[in-house]
Amino acid sequence: MCGIIGYAGHRPAVPLVVEGLRRLEYRGYDSAGTAFVQGGEMRVVRAAGKLAALEEKLASCASATATSAIGHTRWATHGVPAERNAHPHCSNDRRIAIVHNGIIENYQELKADLLAKGYTFSSETDTEVLVNLISEGMKTQGSLLEAFAWALRQAHGAYAVCLKSVDEPDTLYAARMAAPLILGVGTGENYVASDIPAFLPYTRDVVFLEDGEVVMLTASAWKVLALEDLSPLEKPVRRIQWDMQAAQKGGFRHFMLKEIFEQPRVITDCLAGRVDGDTVVLRELESLPVPRRLHIVACGTSYHAGLWGRHLLEHWARVPVSVEIASEFRYRDALLLDAGDAVLVISQSGETADTLAALRIAREHGVPVIGLCNVVGSSIAREADAVIYTQAGPEISVASTKAMCSQMVMLALMSLAWARLRPAGEAGISPEDSAGIIDALRALPGMLDAALPDMHARAREISRAYADARNFFYLGRGHCFPLALEGALKLKELSYIHAEGYASGEMKHGPIALVDPSFPTFALALDDALFPKVKSNIVEVQARQGRIIALTNPGLDIAADDVWVVPALPAPLSAFMALPALQLFSYEVADYLGKDVDQPRNLAKSVTVE
Ligand code: M6R
Repeated sequence: MCGIIGYAGHRPAVPLVVEGLRRLEYRGYDSAGTAFVQGGEMRVVRAAGKLAALEEKLASCASATATSAIGHTRWATHGVPAERNAHPHCSNDRRIAIVHNGIIENYQELKADLLAKGYTFSSETDTEVLVNLISEGMKTQGSLLEAFAWALRQAHGAYAVCLKSVDEPDTLYAARMAAPLILGVGTGENYVASDIPAFLPYTRDVVFLEDGEVVMLTASAWKVLALEDLSPLEKPVRRIQWDMQAAQKGGFRHFMLKEIFEQPRVITDCLAGRVDGDTVVLRELESLPVPRRLHIVACGTSYHAGLWGRHLLEHWARVPVSVEIASEFRYRDALLLDAGDAVLVISQSGETADTLAALRIAREHGVPVIGLCNVVGSSIAREADAVIYTQAGPEISVASTKAMCSQMVMLALMSLAWARLRPAGEAGISPEDSAGIIDALRALPGMLDAALPDMHARAREISRAYADARNFFYLGRGHCFPLALEGALKLKELSYIHAEGYASGEMKHGPIALVDPSFPTFALALDDALFPKVKSNIVEVQARQGRIIALTNPGLDIAADDVWVVPALPAPLSAFMALPALQLFSYEVADYLGKDVDQPRNLAKSVTVE
């Protein structure tokens, strides 16, 4: 899981590549590097750590006037995070350098062959194997392009790779297989990168590359070829509407905070064109019947959104739903054979390897797959039978916030759309109540916008009193249980405090043994039918001297060390108020502790490898 970029143009390439890498850092950030040709020699500059370390090294390379370069920001898959494993990697003769995102699964076999032929390796990476395999191909294939394709045809696994050579210093070659790669088409310059923000300041015209495609680019030309036989392919150029401001912090201290505050806008965008009067309009689903059973598959925060969505899908649309973590689903012999089954994969990035694998399994079973994705043109979006885009905009912070909010809106809309298609009397929600929910959703952005500043202030206040905790429970019931899981995930990934989300009714079955004055609990005690039950669970924790933060609604009778009141909404929409409170609490704890909020250690934004 890494970010790659290649540039061929008329500007000084190295600073441009470094700038592009900065916008790709969300994909990984344990080391970075760049390669360019200067004075007829391959120059490779790499550094462990964040981009600043690479920039420092580059400062002493003032002579770098190259107008073509490749770059890489890495998240370790093979080999420890260290300079020797950082990309680009060079062939033994230093005539070729490559950057690579992904894993070559058969690299050990390929390496053994190359070792037998006398190649040597200075890193533990699969990438160094690949670049030397290309070099080996130069001996038998007619050209660099043919050697590149020849080597890639032997590589099994996932890759987005970009190559630069001393012999063709103005040309870059790139290819993709199961990892994202996009061509940016400029005027007198062309780009290739793992994601659009890398080159967005320079061009909005892009070509989405598919698996098994190779692209050749110079400053003035580009062409896409089939990896299989290098035959030319016709590819449409698309214009991207995102502006770069959407990918910048916009005055907030961190991307995460900005993204939390964007949630009202996200809800508005999700509803735009999707609700017409009292009716939900989801054209993407029109070609599919209401499933008899729905299997939701996702990872991390997207999985929590799926768990929350199950409550609505079952209650309103009366569709039986299972929700499963993608990495488990893909290796289980899932029973997807019933006619009428459908799979819903949820993924912000649309590139999560396990979720993508689950999608492919479902398709192999002939089961229709609906993708709920944020990133337009992502692998999941392209491979699903139907795609619902969540309209959250680019999410830069590694911790997912606004994406979950957008997924929840779409799950609510799907539930209402399918409820409406049920024969009379079979839906779990009446047309009048459905209209009431749509009205409440329309009012939600305004309410949330008004509530967020106070919510932020309260989060800051409370966080100070709990930042020294080493452990935390998050409790909730019903539709608040998935929120408890999400609250715990946010706290652990941002502040490295151990946190567990539990269904509050489970506490008595073991976990309550852990409670003592140093082990606080964040309880979701919202105004719904299960409030009295949650209240009893809170009292049980208090009886063991456990400190409690109770997130609740006005007028509810609850005693806690810290009572945090957020505006009420009818359940289950109250989740849209609770979610930002949980996010802001974790944000404030992590920021207070001086953690790297937007790029927590050991994590990457998009998990494109297993
Ligand atoms: O892009 P996806 O939604 O498929 O990503 C799934 C998870 O990797 C992601 O939600 C992860 O858990 C985040 N770090 C949570 O904040």
